[in-house]
Amino acid sequence: MRVLVTGGCGYIGTHTVLQLVTAGHDVVVVDDFSNASPAVIPRLEELADRPIPVHRFTLEDRARTDHLLATERVDAVIHFAGFKAVGESVAHPISYYRNNIGATLSLLEAMSAHDVHRLVFSSSATVYGADATPPFTEDLPTSATNPYGWTKVMIEQIMRDLAVSDPQWRIALLRYFNPVGAHPSGRIGEDPSGIPNNLLPFIAQVAVGRRDRLLIFGDDYDTVDGTGVRDFIHVDDLALGHVAALEALGHRDEAVNTWNLGTGQGTSVRQLLRAFEKACGRELPYAVAPRRPGDIATSYADPTRAHRDLRWEATRSIDDICASAWAWQSANPHGYQA
Ligand code: UD1
Repeated sequence: MRVLVTGGCGYIGTHTVLQLVTAGHDVVVVDDFSNASPAVIPRLEELADRPIPVHRFTLEDRARTDHLLATERVDAVIHFAGFKAVGESVAHPISYYRNNIGATLSLLEAMSAHDVHRLVFSSSATVYGADATPPFTEDLPTSATNPYGWTKVMIEQIMRDLAVSDPQWRIALLRYFNPVGAHPSGRIGEDPSGIPNNLLPFIAQVAVGRRDRLLIFGDDYDTVDGTGVRDFIHVDDLALGHVAALEALGHRDEAVNTWNLGTGQGTSVRQLLRAFEKACGRELPYAVAPRRPGDIATSYADPTRAHRDLRWEATRSIDDICASAWAWQSANPHGYQA
């Protein structure tokens, strides 16, 4: 297939582009570089061993999005492009709704106009809200606790409504748990701008000396060691889940398919820190701080449906995750800016 990857220069996008190419697909990328670096492109091309066409504009620009779909004859779209920082979304809700929902509407209109009906969407386990009991199954009701999360809930609903209106659509809503790790080459990885919000990039920056110490947000949760428990999934496993979903849509009867992409295993903050210490070969400084508002104690997937429908399963371990994240961070202490 020839696949348009929106947000294809971001963290999950780049890893997915590589897995698509490895699986024999052609890729076209669109990215506005609002949260990605153009320096990733030569690295991606070197790893893919071929040129990767990259279009630089925002999908909110309906005319350009329409032109792209008119000129690039794609069979399917994987839609990653979107803002993703929870705290920022609370501070700037309008820009989150405008960007995430506006871009999606523009993309869906252009796809409809040019008869492209196969779509994989980057959703999140955040749609399970704050009250569900893990393991989370896909049929739980959805909700959110912040504007970022609501954009995911709303976009899922927009896609369900669209599929009702036209039976040609085949859509995968992929709910990611906690994507972490990097391509084993150490050439591409997660490069958050500013202070990392997420745990693993923060630990990696402590290990490389960019941050003094990790703050563990709460050690009084009802979990194995009092710290939060999450389902950390290697980004290459996640990327392979996209390839599997994309290919499966070709023979699905259901117009909309919701699949959790997680390992089904919970790992605590302390356990992840210890695994990273093993990978980087030294103890890392940390302190315990109050709970972060909005956090839940435990989140992990029931990945049974993806196993069954996609014959996909995460195979990489927490040690693989930490080794690859360290390979990336130690070779690129300042990310793509080096
Ligand atoms: C967070 C978002 C979620 C989003 C996901 C994207 C919140 C409340 N949730 O999920 O909506 O879909 O990122 O990747 O922001 N932790 C620390 N110290 C840190 C950072 C994190 O102790 O410096 C802890 C957290 O309290 C949590 C765990 O590490 O228990 C994981 O945190 P994080 O990586 O931010 O992921 P989520 O909160 O699961």
